[in-house]
Amino acid sequence: MVTRETLLPKCERAFDFAGKQLKALIEEHPDQFPEFTVDGKWSLNKNPWTNWCEGFLGGQLWLLYKHAGDDYWREKAEHYSKLIEHRKTDRQVHDLGFLFWSTYKQWYDLTSEEALNAVLIEAGQTMALRFKEKGQYLRSFLAEDSLFIDIMMNVGIVFYAAQETDDADLFRIANQHCLTTRKYLIRGDGSGSHEGIFDLESGEFLRQSTQQGWRNDSSWARGLAWALYGFGTVYEFTQDARYLNTACALADYYIEHTPAHGVPPNDWDDPEPKYPYESSAAAIAASGMLNLAKLAQNPAAARMYQQYAYTILDTLTSPEFLADQTPGYEGILKRGIYHLNKGLGVDQSVMWGEFFFLEAVSKVINDD
Ligand code: GLY
Repeated sequence: MVTRETLLPKCERAFDFAGKQLKALIEEHPDQFPEFTVDGKWSLNKNPWTNWCEGFLGGQLWLLYKHAGDDYWREKAEHYSKLIEHRKTDRQVHDLGFLFWSTYKQWYDLTSEEALNAVLIEAGQTMALRFKEKGQYLRSFLAEDSLFIDIMMNVGIVFYAAQETDDADLFRIANQHCLTTRKYLIRGDGSGSHEGIFDLESGEFLRQSTQQGWRNDSSWARGLAWALYGFGTVYEFTQDARYLNTACALADYYIEHTPAHGVPPNDWDDPEPKYPYESSAAAIAASGMLNLAKLAQNPAAARMYQQYAYTILDTLTSPEFLADQTPGYEGILKRGIYHLNKGLGVDQSVMWGEFFFLEAVSKVINDD
């Protein structure tokens, strides 16, 4: 059985390695925001699909600063956060939670500076402008009739803005989005659908769909991991037990369908996955399950989620996944997949995988 004691030295080693890799990245390619590696080297080409990852680099720099207390990381973390401040009014993407929770929230938590909180609030208010009254969901970046499971990781910033400004309508929007997602994208067996399509005239839900999964009726692993983590977060904002139950159902599905090492393929339903691992889904799930371990009412379930998260991290810190024994490799965590169907970032490091891996590792280190 993996214990915190056996895991801790591996976590410390992973943090040291992450520091080396991130220092090399930001010194060699200042002010760049690569999203995934190609042949193990960060790709600096402009993102070919959507701009959703620019917070994860600054987010890791904040984690490194909090871990080491080194002014170098503090200066870089502030710098990479400021580089994205203008995105607080970005209406092109549904990812303002990803962008600002990983950066400005960590910064604000350290300083309590009102100007930083104002950025978080404005980002949450911008996110809420995506709400479709007909259908009751925050629309995805792709189309007005499209609801993505990923938005469960971004709706938290709308709850946050509602809470900070005491805005009942913002709360309604965030809450309705979560109820709609739960109703149409989460299935009875605890699996999740990537996308929902709505009739824009009537608001009627039409069908489940996918962009990055195997099939419209299948279970894309990262989408489920986003939902597992996201429903836990919205439970913290609302104390609505339905959200906690949904998060636990998703976690149980993950545990039931994944090999004992804890790393799923890109889609659990694909009968012949070409790649066995989607490590970023595992990193997100580990971090989300560590949250659930603190939230679950049932102590046995809480222990199970913590234990499973430890198992995932034990696997991810092994040489198959952690790149510290792979000469010339520029990422931290190998074997992630961005977009299998488009052939983007396949069996590579992906910037959000690095962030959530480091976040989960830091939770283990700081949980004393
Ligand atoms: N756009 C979110 C994801 O690829 O998971």
